[in-house]
Amino acid sequence: MKLDDIRREYLRSGLSRSELLADPIEQLTDWLNQAHSVELVDATAMTVATVDGDGQPSQRVVLLKRLDERGLVFYTNLKSRKAIDIENNNKISLHFGWLQLERQVKIQGIASKMSVTENLSYFASRPKDSQLAAWASHQSKPISSRKLLNAAFEQMKSKFSDGQVPLPDFWGGYLVKPTRFEFWQGGGARLHDSFSYCTGPKDNWQLERLAP
Ligand SMILES: Cc1cc2nc3c(=O)[nH]c(=O)nc-3n(C[C@H](O)[C@H](O)[C@H](O)COP(=O)(O)O)c2cc1C
Repeated sequence: MKLDDIRREYLRSGLSRSELLADPIEQLTDWLNQAHSVELVDATAMTVATVDGDGQPSQRVVLLKRLDERGLVFYTNLKSRKAIDIENNNKISLHFGWLQLERQVKIQGIASKMSVTENLSYFASRPKDSQLAAWASHQSKPISSRKLLNAAFEQMKSKFSDGQVPLPDFWGGYLVKPTRFEFWQGGGARLHDSFSYCTGPKDNWQLERLAP
């Protein structure tokens, strides 16, 4: 494979200011619905970037589980690497890469923990195996073998064989309140269309075209 020979033109469609909704959350909802309706694999997957105490960024994919006027929600282990980063620095960045649609959305925002009531309600809606997996995994920590992970899962299976699986106190959601969005649509000759929404003084969104 010769990397410098790999390129394609982005020709699907342009993006103009008049097509964009005034509220970026509504705009994101619209693009998310489009990505889902054309059956993109994992259309709700987004990359979350955090920064640790030494200023070292790291990223990972999570699934978006709620999107409304309050912001974006994902669920995770509250002792994971990302959770430790967020504890130190709640400014995070999210990224959706819908490459088949020649689109990306970049989001900056502030993360805060969801309430136990909200966590409980979402946890209860998950399949039992996912609930047990949450209990079995010390996410981000070293584990010596796959066998050990399977054994931890089996142990949780028998521990919680009767009735409901309780919510682990180390598992929950983060709400990301967005402060900036960037909507990007690929264009011909690398002249892409890109627009940012930033929060203004009265919490209203300011829309600007950005050079690609
Ligand atoms: C498609 C996909 C979806 C994922 N969804 C989640 C998720 O919703 N929550 C989560 O904690 N990890 C999810 N993961 C795993 C994370 O990418 C990551 O490996 C894990 O959260 C540990 O990250 P950390 O050590 O940086 O905290 C997903 C991975 C992929 C590839």
